[in-house]
Amino acid sequence: MDKYKHRLATLRKEKGWITENLYMYKGFWHQSGRRFSIEAVMAIQDTFKAHPTDIYLATMPKSGTTWLKALVFALVKRNQYKNSSISTHPLLVTNPHICLPSIEAEIFRNTPTYVDGVSPRLFATHIPYTSLPQSIIKSGCRLVYLCRNPKDVLVSMFHFTNKLRDKSLGLMTFEEAFKLFSKGIMNNGPYWDHVKVYHKISLEHPKNVLFLTYEDMTIDTVNIVKRLAKFLGYPFTKEEEANGAVQEIVKLCGFKNLSEVNKHGNVREGMPNDVFFREGKVGDWKNYLTNEMSRILDEITEEKFHGLDISF
Ligand code: A3P
Repeated sequence: MDKYKHRLATLRKEKGWITENLYMYKGFWHQSGRRFSIEAVMAIQDTFKAHPTDIYLATMPKSGTTWLKALVFALVKRNQYKNSSISTHPLLVTNPHICLPSIEAEIFRNTPTYVDGVSPRLFATHIPYTSLPQSIIKSGCRLVYLCRNPKDVLVSMFHFTNKLRDKSLGLMTFEEAFKLFSKGIMNNGPYWDHVKVYHKISLEHPKNVLFLTYEDMTIDTVNIVKRLAKFLGYPFTKEEEANGAVQEIVKLCGFKNLSEVNKHGNVREGMPNDVFFREGKVGDWKNYLTNEMSRILDEITEEKFHGLDISF
């Protein structure tokens, strides 16, 4: 890791959210540290080997990663857990981030990982498309990108930050969060650039990249899960559909169930399970943004997403 740390001194630096600083690397902001960091991105670029059968889930933080992880894990593994008692399903006893790890959290691990020796390997990432290792881009594997209304991402990230931030940094105000977010300064941001590149790639390679929104997922979860299953090569049979298998997965991965399962415990030290479950709603931004803040973000979104079929 030290081999990457010395490169930080040469990079542009800005004020961070959870950590003190963010660094600009290949057009995107990254925090420094062990996980979900610029060091992790560099190590992944140098050493990570994708398999053609791998499945990747890509998101900006706070876009519904936890939900998507749960859904994809549950649907891909449904036959494995079909005959076990329902109480032993991993999603009923552990956090979706343990079931389906992020490569930025796994890369510096010395112990065997949950996905070793398993095919397909299921991984998530917040890494911008342009910084993904060549091995993922060239492997021909499938990737699902989930995006969410930037205003709800901002509000969600604001709360997440204040739950996890080092005490020495004090609490972040919402005005501060808004200023940084609207300037694109957030781990893996700018938000708009992150979304735009994955959206473009999904149009160019529809067999490999599926683009979804959190908002669509909340409106019609059953149909989105069916779409996901088909895209990933695990379509539901007529019999499964008739037996309510899709609805069962939707319920298992629903906010109500997962937030209850994850009331206690930790994903790892300093990362409580419950920090990933807050409101789980569309439009909570209305309770935080002033009209002026909302107008500014609308303007940026309109300008950045102009001509793109992305709606929330
Ligand atoms: P809110 O803070 O708006 O409630 P991520 O998983 O990318 O960190 O995103 C976290 C957001 O997804 C949080 O949003 C969280 O409440 C919401 N979320 C977590 N699990 C969910 C689920 N099963 N269904 C819907 N939303 C969920």
